[in-house]
Amino acid sequence: MKILFIGSRLYDDIDWYVKSKGIESVLTESNENAINLDLPDQVFIVPRGMDGPKQVALMQKVDAIVPLIGIDPPLIDVAHMKEEVEEEYGIPVIAADVRAVELTSNKIKTKAFYDEIGVATPKYQILTGPEDLTLDLPVVLKQGEGQGGKDIKVAKTIGDVEDYFNEFDQALCEEFIEGAEISIEVLGFDGEYVALPPIYKGETTLEGTHPLNKTKTGPCMVEGLDNNLVQHVAYKVAKNLDSDGIYEMDFMFSHKNKQLYAIEVNTRPNGTRYLTTATCGVNSLCELVNMAIGEFSLPNVYDKLEYYYSTEIPIGDYEGPAPKVPVKSFEHNDFVVHGPEGYQRVTARADSKENLEKLVDKLT
Ligand SMILES: Nc1ncnc2c1ncn2[C@@H]1O[C@H](COP(=O)(O)OP(=O)(O)O)[C@@H](O)[C@H]1O
Ligand SMILES: [Mg+2]
Repeated sequence: MKILFIGSRLYDDIDWYVKSKGIESVLTESNENAINLDLPDQVFIVPRGMDGPKQVALMQKVDAIVPLIGIDPPLIDVAHMKEEVEEEYGIPVIAADVRAVELTSNKIKTKAFYDEIGVATPKYQILTGPEDLTLDLPVVLKQGEGQGGKDIKVAKTIGDVEDYFNEFDQALCEEFIEGAEISIEVLGFDGEYVALPPIYKGETTLEGTHPLNKTKTGPCMVEGLDNNLVQHVAYKVAKNLDSDGIYEMDFMFSHKNKQLYAIEVNTRPNGTRYLTTATCGVNSLCELVNMAIGEFSLPNVYDKLEYYYSTEIPIGDYEGPAPKVPVKSFEHNDFVVHGPEGYQRVTARADSKENLEKLVDKLT
C-alpha cells in the first residue's frame, strides 16, 4: 500500500500509525521549510494548488490520496481534484466532494442547507446595512467564510452593528444563543456514517470568546441535553452531505428554550480531534488512513470505542512530564501535547473525574 498525503503540518499526528500499518508514505508540501518533512518515506515540494499532488500521485502510482489540510481555503480545490482523480484514474481521494465543500465552506449556504433538511439553526437574516436589522439584540454578525472566530462580532447595540458595517458591506446576522457550545466529529465513507461522542466546549459569551481559548471536556455533559440527540442530528447532517472523510460540526444548546441548534460544519481535520480520541479511542486522522486502505467500517469503529473522561486545556508552553512514544497518540499515553509553541494545549484522559483532576494537576 502506497498513500500520498497532501500537506505536512498534521503529518506527525499519524506518522506512527502509517508506519505501524506498513504503508509506504509519499507526501507533497508547498512550503520547503514546513515541519515534519523528515517523517514520510518520500517528500515532494510542489507549487500551491492540487496540480502538483495529482502529478505526484500518478507518477508514484499511489493507491490512495489522503489530504491532511486543516484550513478551509484549499478544500474546494481538493474537492475538484478528488472528483477528477477518482473518475479518470480510479484513485480514491479521502476528502469531501465539491457539493459538500460548497455547502459547508460558506456559513450562509450552510444555514440554507440546515433549513432544507429540517435541522434547527439559530434564526438569521442577511444584512446589507444596519437598517435591515429586525432580530432582537444581541446578535452575532459573521461573514460567509472564515474560521477560528475571524470576522465574527457579537453586537449588543445598534452602534455595534453600525461599526461592523464600517468594515463589511454584508453580514450573516444570527440571534445570539446563550448556552453550551458543543462539537462532534462524524466519519463518513462510501455511504456509511458514524457520529463520535460530542465534546463540550464551554459557554457562549457576549464577548464572543472563541472555543479555541476555552477549556473543553469530553464526553459532553450538559444538563437537559441528551448526547444521543446530538449524535442523531450530526448523523443526519452528514448523511445529507453525502460525502467522504471527517465532518466536524458545531452546535449550541440554548439554556433558555432547551433547543439544540446547528451552527457550522467543517469538512476537514479539526481541533476537536484530540478530545474525541481521548474520550472514545477513535482517532479521526487514523480513520482517514483506514478509509484509504479499505479497513474503515462501522463494526471496526465500534470495536475501538472506549469510555474516558477527558479535558483539553490551553497552557501556552508545556513543561510537564514527557509523553511516551508515539508522542502524538493515546496508544501509550494518558495525555497528548499539541499546538505551536506559545499556544500549546494538553489533552488528558482518565477513567474517572477524580483521576482526571489528579492527572491535570500533574501536567499543568
Ligand atoms: N449564534 C451565536 N450565539 C452565540 N455565540 C455565537 C453564535 N455564533 C457564533 N458564536 C460564537 O462565535 C464562535 C465562532 O462562530 P462559528 O460560526 O463557529 O465560526 P468559526 O468558523 O469562526 O468557528 C462560536 O464558537 C461562538 O463562540
Ligand atoms: Mg466554529
